[in-house]
Amino acid sequence: MKLMFDLPKQDEAALPAEALGEKRMYCLPYNYENNKYAEGYMLFTDKHIYKLLEGKLLETYTYSEMSDFSVESLYGCSAFYAKVNGVSTMLCRINSGRNLPRYSVMVKACELLAKGDSDTVLKSDEPERFCPKCGRPFVVHTKICPFCQNKKEIYKKLWGMTRGLRFMMMAPLITTAIAVVIRFIVPFFQAIAIDDYIIPKNQQYGAFIAVIFAIVSFDLVHRTLNVIQSRISAISGNKFTLLLRSLLFEKIQMLSMSSIQEKSTGDLMGRINNDVSVVQNFITNLLPSYVSYILSFVVALCLMIWLNPLMCMFIFIPLPFAILFIVKFRKTMNRRNIRAWVLGMRTNHHLQDILNGIRIVKSYGNEDAAVNTFQTNTANQAKQDCSNAKLFDTVFPIMGFVIRLGSYAILMYGNYLMFVDPMTVGLVNQCNTYCNMIYEPIMQITTIPRSISEFTTSLSKVLEILEENPDVSDIDSPKYVKLSGDISLRNVTFGYNSYDPVLEHVTFDIKAGEMIGIVGHSGCGKTTLVNLIMRMYDTTEGQILVDGTDIREIAQNSLRTQMGVVLQETLLFSGSIRDNIRYAAPHATNEQVIEAAKLANAHDFIMSLPEGYNTVVGEKGYSLSGGERQRIAIARALIHNPKILILDEATAALDTETEKLIQDAINHLTEGRTTIAIAHRLSTLRNADKILVIDHGKLKEYGTHRELLDMKGIYYKLVMAQQRLAQEK
Ligand SMILES: Nc1ncnc2c1ncn2[C@@H]1O[C@H](COP(=O)(O)OP(=O)(O)OP(=O)(O)O)[C@@H](O)[C@H]1O
Ligand SMILES: [Mg+2]
Repeated sequence: MKLMFDLPKQDEAALPAEALGEKRMYCLPYNYENNKYAEGYMLFTDKHIYKLLEGKLLETYTYSEMSDFSVESLYGCSAFYAKVNGVSTMLCRINSGRNLPRYSVMVKACELLAKGDSDTVLKSDEPERFCPKCGRPFVVHTKICPFCQNKKEIYKKLWGMTRGLRFMMMAPLITTAIAVVIRFIVPFFQAIAIDDYIIPKNQQYGAFIAVIFAIVSFDLVHRTLNVIQSRISAISGNKFTLLLRSLLFEKIQMLSMSSIQEKSTGDLMGRINNDVSVVQNFITNLLPSYVSYILSFVVALCLMIWLNPLMCMFIFIPLPFAILFIVKFRKTMNRRNIRAWVLGMRTNHHLQDILNGIRIVKSYGNEDAAVNTFQTNTANQAKQDCSNAKLFDTVFPIMGFVIRLGSYAILMYGNYLMFVDPMTVGLVNQCNTYCNMIYEPIMQITTIPRSISEFTTSLSKVLEILEENPDVSDIDSPKYVKLSGDISLRNVTFGYNSYDPVLEHVTFDIKAGEMIGIVGHSGCGKTTLVNLIMRMYDTTEGQILVDGTDIREIAQNSLRTQMGVVLQETLLFSGSIRDNIRYAAPHATNEQVIEAAKLANAHDFIMSLPEGYNTVVGEKGYSLSGGERQRIAIARALIHNPKILILDEATAALDTETEKLIQDAINHLTEGRTTIAIAHRLSTLRNADKILVIDHGKLKEYGTHRELLDMKGIYYKLVMAQQRLAQEK
């Protein structure tokens, strides 16, 4: 998020002279003053905070007099607080959605500035949630503003993506064009039929039938072309969709953990399924009809000018009204349509969230709140739809009537010409048909902006993923190595947000084949540490070496296929237990699967299931208990036979008895490989060669169980506390 806004000129002029010599660190807007909406700015220099509002300097704060910076959520807004000379003071009030994350960074920033550190300039990694141009919220989970997006740019990118499919994608448009031209031939023959045969009661049946035959044939050709166009459209649209979906899915697999975590499952699924379908619908259905509208308009207009230029003038009588109306009404129409659609999307997102977390909703008895929010969302959507319908259903028929006035005028003038005789009935009929063909596209103008907005937004959502640069990516020619299992961390610092390190200056070495335990309080960074070793994230500073090679030089695939993990949360894929166990080694035989399950102490419970190894476990393996799932995960790791094994609370979900069994399993598991085990229950780490104690992101103690006990530090205290607990039980 942006932390340096431009200060408006009037506020700039209001700054005191001393401010000009100070180093500007951050400049942020605030939104309320004296309980009213305001457009003020807080300028943070290296010495002071200046609070400005519309050309006035309201306050000047000096860091040396300040402490205890904080942000708090109030009712409907948030506030930035600090103690000024020991008194808690509200510095400014802000809009939570727009500015709270910015001021959260300011808490840390001001603490640094108050300490006199003006060299560190913090950045916010949090993405912007509002459009900087129009201030409206972005489409949920994206950086896309449907109101302000650069459509030209999107079309250009679309064009780039259609390489190889262009001929197929252009073919329906060409067919449409031919079909439109042929459609115009039919009224021409109709005119001949009326003028040469029907009105004069001409009895040359042969010729008359030939004319009728021509009408039917051209109509048939026109319709056949439409069928061909639909078919080619469907084929090319499906090809393009397949391409988009595969590209998307491939890309999502390549994305780093941090970018995946920013997006919800529902959102990603929505992009792969719904957004791609919107793009497909546009390309296969809407685009050919728009081409047909535009061509019909142009061809009909040309023909009218050719047939009777004066009569053609009548078409233009209502056009100024129509154009004026479109110019005046277009913005309202666009805004209303897009708003209705954004509200619909919001409802969908909420629905996805709730359905994903339905167990939590139910277990906290939060159904009513969920229903209420859903109802509010749908009510808002319905209200907007209703209001749109009311307006559009009144305005468009009126507009339609005004436009039709042109065709009535043509009819009248045509009839007049007929009476005075230079024009035939057939010609009047022909002109009238062409005239309607001109008006038809104009009437469709109402739906086009919405469809285009929907299409460009969906396409942008797809492009956003496709164009994302993975934070963790392979170098140009990465190494494929066979690991023996030495791991070294050199001065590793890492934070999910760059201004807030979770791990700081961690250095240690693990030799191949060793078992290392990691302990520390919850949230101290244990899982983060193993994530770094697996290279789910890249370190902010420092290096991680495996067998002496920086892991950034090793192909991710090569690195991870030689690592096995049993995580805090075990995810089972939909499929049989057997498939889940051999997930990482798909060619494993039945015997190998059973052996792994036996070693993991999972065989007995699997055999007690009605279908044994063929039992299908559902999404997230709901039908199995936490301990059972974990044992399956251990079996999965065993069969994978990795060189480096990571156990993150692998025994957390087990009772003491099962834990003993699992402990045996783990002992099998750790033989001949480097193992990193995280555990809260310290008894499980007794066999570890070394134990790392992490406290607040720093490596505090490192040694064997005995050495750490003798040290009488954090580890000693933890062990004592757990022993006391066990005795009390
Ligand atoms: N994806 C993330 N984005 C931002 N912050 C995160 C993320 N994952 C973890 N954190 C934060 O990093 C810190 C360390 O988390 P971590 O999961 O490494 O703790 P842990 O030591 O494994 O805790 P536990 O014992 O409870 O599993 C926590 O404060 C957590 O809130
Ligand atoms: Mg953890």
